[in-house]
Amino acid sequence: MRAGQPVIDSHMNNKQSSPVTLETLQSMKRDGEKIVCLTTYDAGFTRVLEAAGVDMFIIGDSLGMVVMGYDTTVPVTMDDMVHHAASVARVGRHSYRVVDLPYQSYSNKDMALANARRLVDEGGADMVKLEGGTDMATIVAHIVGHGIPVCGHIGLLPQSIESLGGYKVQGHGAEAAREILADARALQAAGAGLVVMECIPATLGAEITADLEIPTIGIGAGPDCDGQVLVLYDMLGITQGRLPRFVKDFMSEGGSIPGAIMAYVDAVRDGRYPAPEHTY
Ligand code: KIV
Repeated sequence: MRAGQPVIDSHMNNKQSSPVTLETLQSMKRDGEKIVCLTTYDAGFTRVLEAAGVDMFIIGDSLGMVVMGYDTTVPVTMDDMVHHAASVARVGRHSYRVVDLPYQSYSNKDMALANARRLVDEGGADMVKLEGGTDMATIVAHIVGHGIPVCGHIGLLPQSIESLGGYKVQGHGAEAAREILADARALQAAGAGLVVMECIPATLGAEITADLEIPTIGIGAGPDCDGQVLVLYDMLGITQGRLPRFVKDFMSEGGSIPGAIMAYVDAVRDGRYPAPEHTY
């Protein structure tokens, strides 16, 4: 085998072989076709994920924990994000690439736009992602207004883990659920093209997905989101320590890295993941 060649035969169908765009993801929502997403941080895994037919990548600041060894995502810098996003973009041909704006890189409109431009120009991002809802609407509108697509991130916000008091399910109870629904609506109204929903009850994930026109991508948000994402190292079973309930180790089912990714792709596409034991 030639160096750099994907280690699995292409798992993509014809429709999937052209590059995925935001329009593709929107039409998948309309057609009720599940969007398959994983995090990736480097060229090697990106090739395997693309060959397995993953629709969308999040080059997440989770890289701070799973790649760089920090306890949280907070120490991750813009330079770290650009470095990893560019590694993915160098080999990425097919999947839609969403890159995280790291902690304190979008504290005001000018800073947010300058850093979003860097992720696009130097990191090859198709879209940038930031954490927050109603409080972020002005910043989202500013970035989108300058032609850069934005993904929101609501529910559990890892960059605010100190103030949230740890990794806990968000949106329990009517008032908390109403606030998260309001966050989702505010992001859509501000022009966000996608919303990631992390660690919320499945009923709330379903309600927000039905309410929004833009696609929702769930991580611990139940089976009714338009798509699913997991942190790659978590679903490969190589993250140390106690993992959240929504993580499934696909390595034990797939037997190899390409096998695990293909098992995940198939399970998300046909609605077998997340199962009731992965939801809140
Ligand atoms: O940083 C990250 O990995 C994320 C997850 C939601 C996928 O934002």
